[in-house]
Amino acid sequence: MLEFYEPQADYGTPKSTSTTMVTLSIDGVSVTVPEGTSVMRAAAENGVKIPRLCASDQLKSFGSCRVCLVEIEGRRGFPASCTTNVEAGMEVKTQSDQIGKLRRNVMELYISDHPLDCLTCPTNGDCELQDTAGEVGLRSVRYGFEGENHLVAEKDESNPYFTFDPSKCIVCSRCVRACEEVQGTFALTIDGRGFDSKVSVSQDEDFMGSECVSCGACVAACPTATLTEKSIIEAGKPEHSVITTCAYCGVGCSFKAEMKGNEVVRMTPYKDGKANEGHACVKGRFAFGYATHKDRITVPMIRDSIDDPWREVSWDEAVTYTAKRFKDIQAQYGRNSIGAISSSRCTNEEVYLVQKMVRAGFGNNNIDTCARVCHSPTGFGLKTTLGESAGTQTFASVADADVVIVMGANPTEAHPVFGSRLKRRLREGAKLIVIDPRKIELVSSPHITADYHLPVRPGTNVTLLNALAHVVVNEGLEARDYITERCDVAEFGKWLAFIGDERHSPENTESITGVDAADLRGAARLYATGGNGAIFYGLGVTEHSQGSTAVMGIANLAMLTGNIGRDGVGVNPLRGQNNVQGSCDMGSFPHELPGYRHISDKATRDLFENEWGVTLDSEPGLRIPNMFDAALDGDFKGLYCQGEDIAQSDPNTQHVEAALRSIECLVVQDIFLNETAKFAHVFLPGASFLEKDGTFTNAERRISRVRKVMPPLSGKADWEGTMALANALGCKMEYNHPSEIMDEIARLTPTFNGVSYDRLEQLGSIQWRCNDDTPEGTPIMHVDQFVRGRGFFAMTEYVATTERANRKFPLLLTTGRILSQYNVGAQTRRTENSEWHGEDVLEIHPHDAEERGINHGDWVGINSRVGDTVLRADVTDKVKPGVVYTTFHHPVSGANVITTDNSDWATNCPEYKVTAVQISKVTQPSNWQARQKSFDKQQQGLLQRGLSQSARH
Ligand code: SF4
Ligand code: SF4
Ligand code: SF4
Ligand code: FES
Repeated sequence: MLEFYEPQADYGTPKSTSTTMVTLSIDGVSVTVPEGTSVMRAAAENGVKIPRLCASDQLKSFGSCRVCLVEIEGRRGFPASCTTNVEAGMEVKTQSDQIGKLRRNVMELYISDHPLDCLTCPTNGDCELQDTAGEVGLRSVRYGFEGENHLVAEKDESNPYFTFDPSKCIVCSRCVRACEEVQGTFALTIDGRGFDSKVSVSQDEDFMGSECVSCGACVAACPTATLTEKSIIEAGKPEHSVITTCAYCGVGCSFKAEMKGNEVVRMTPYKDGKANEGHACVKGRFAFGYATHKDRITVPMIRDSIDDPWREVSWDEAVTYTAKRFKDIQAQYGRNSIGAISSSRCTNEEVYLVQKMVRAGFGNNNIDTCARVCHSPTGFGLKTTLGESAGTQTFASVADADVVIVMGANPTEAHPVFGSRLKRRLREGAKLIVIDPRKIELVSSPHITADYHLPVRPGTNVTLLNALAHVVVNEGLEARDYITERCDVAEFGKWLAFIGDERHSPENTESITGVDAADLRGAARLYATGGNGAIFYGLGVTEHSQGSTAVMGIANLAMLTGNIGRDGVGVNPLRGQNNVQGSCDMGSFPHELPGYRHISDKATRDLFENEWGVTLDSEPGLRIPNMFDAALDGDFKGLYCQGEDIAQSDPNTQHVEAALRSIECLVVQDIFLNETAKFAHVFLPGASFLEKDGTFTNAERRISRVRKVMPPLSGKADWEGTMALANALGCKMEYNHPSEIMDEIARLTPTFNGVSYDRLEQLGSIQWRCNDDTPEGTPIMHVDQFVRGRGFFAMTEYVATTERANRKFPLLLTTGRILSQYNVGAQTRRTENSEWHGEDVLEIHPHDAEERGINHGDWVGINSRVGDTVLRADVTDKVKPGVVYTTFHHPVSGANVITTDNSDWATNCPEYKVTAVQISKVTQPSNWQARQKSFDKQQQGLLQRGLSQSARH
């Protein structure tokens, strides 16, 4: 869907959601629109553009510029069409001599204080001020530049991605309103009055020094060149655009990739994208430069040993070499001695092909995915209780929530566009309960204060959830009718006896969770009685030894209060990576074929065996941690790892490194030489999301198209690389386009039966289930009944983690993410986003810091029972005493050197969120950090020796 560049249509004011229709006349033509529509929008929807400057359909109407005035029969004066709503029988005139004159007078005043440098202006030809001057027929300006003006106002170039040039500002306040209404950050204000009024950033700071989070909403809203992307200033106006999907987080924002030739010059959030509706965050909006970074490796490479230099080879040689080594390994060590890890950053079609290659080509089920280390407990917990391994809602449905629980998630940092949507609802009056050891931004931010913050001690989520349910039950607040009608009543009876026990009371659990009993009671009452209750949770729930139990506890709580199956409620896992939902859907777990069907089920196997023409192994294969253990035992010798950096992202780094060193043929397919590739024998060059076609599935189960905007730098998209390897192994694959892979997925998977590229083209995106019963998808799950039939209340007995604070390791370390960086940072560290977060730091409470003589900015050693690392200290009360916190975006930080290999009882999801540590002041890096530095230097040298200049981008 390549189009010539056109700015996205703007109807001036937001769409009305009313179902009552109103008929009026505009310029003598009868039009019918929903009640609540502005005259401006009614005209625009019917092809009449009324000039405007301060209005935009992303913002509430404001009525300041007076360019949009019209005449309305029977009304005095000239009302602004943006602030006047339609009425039945209204007769509107948008053009007359008098209107024209008034509009020209207004425009003349604006232009008289605006530099007339249109020819050299970066937004020449894409400027609403210029367009509006043309639309009103302004041909001359009577006032010169001699008097007072703003033409010499100083530029603010501090933001790496956009410029603020106040000399071009018309003080329409669209930027200020975008920052408030769309983003919810309140970084901008209009200071002063009349002629002196101007846009100010925070307390008259520059953008970088302010609380601005660089979402770009103000830049998109600005009708002039005042706020302009630096990429546009440098490259000029785009020529064409392609609609695609962000490859960062699980929100799955739609973008128009705006191009000049094969170069992306701007990513503009797409207004028709249902996950984001025209908004974006700093990652998707601006951090796309990694795709053409000089570190990209664009040729296949092989080497016999990790101490050898790499050797550049053709694709053919690389896949033939890999296939031979994999076959030799299987001949020597057995069929189960090789496996693969697929990537939640790759498309559904690519993930599907990797698992197909493993099952049909390797002849085993040794396929796993990075969801193992993040949301595998979600799959298990929701499937057990509700019957489907996915979230229940659309993001948009939060607009109907009355009480929101955010547990173990930090939406404003990790899922920012959803964070903005949530903030909007909270500003409208919804109540908020935050369950998190840390004071995340939502606890207190402009115009938002959480009604309850329950700072749970890491590792005790299950106790806290049980206590919430206990209060609901013991105070008789449960939704009895809903439970009787929709849930397994016998199981509920057993669960009731369990949860009613006094050991779960807030008072009895306070010493375990560290949460004040009265607060917990208040939060439980609020959720149970406050109207529509929606729960959003993240890795702070799943990455625990009882991650699956906590997910089931959340589902229990939602069923108990009748909060599943309609708008504004639900259980919503906030997925970390862009396609983590999709990678799970596509059969990436060793025990499940696509659509979450167990490999032991003969009927399902028959289906795939018929399609693929092979016999499938009925035994589940190895999970990622089992692969590492088997490698160390000498039983697992070959691994194909696509788009995942397990050496950095998986826990207990030293254990992972030892396992990787013991693998005889490690194949890494990636866009950079990541930490894992330093242990590899074959490097297959990956393609960024800009270089391929496919689909991603976001946290709402929304399948959206990824469209190729430039050719793959290596000559092959990732699915083509996998296909080449599969064919070299003798596993026949013949696809000409990813749409054919999707057709196969749809044929074999009931929940995807109705999905096709044609259908996606028609509908824009589809939330699965999509089949004959629901041809347009399923925005809300479990509407009339649960997918499993009757909702199941699972027992959620708390079992304390073995990872406890003690005298030797008295503090609990927990981890999380930051807005500007993404996961292991491989992409964002190669963009200007690093200006916001150049290193990971350790947050420590002033009390714990003082006890150890640690000052803000000191280097501190962090020791756990498995390893140690060194970070700089950030002394802050965001964490409470006894808890320390860090992010894991930089390899040198070694955050996972200290995390242990404890894991969830059901799924082996690592317990990243609880590590007992000791902190002390130090003066030099840890031994691991010193070793990592020298290993990195050696591997960079081996890369340089083997690689021709042309192979690096
Ligand atoms: S970039 Fe976003 S956060 Fe920053 S000022 Fe603009 S709208 Fe506000
Ligand atoms: S910076 Fe742009 S959007 Fe903001 S007030 Fe000035 S012209 Fe309007
Ligand atoms: S919120 Fe997520 S999907 Fe949207 S632009 Fe940001 S990183 Fe991309
Ligand atoms: S567009 Fe209506 S007053 Fe500015």
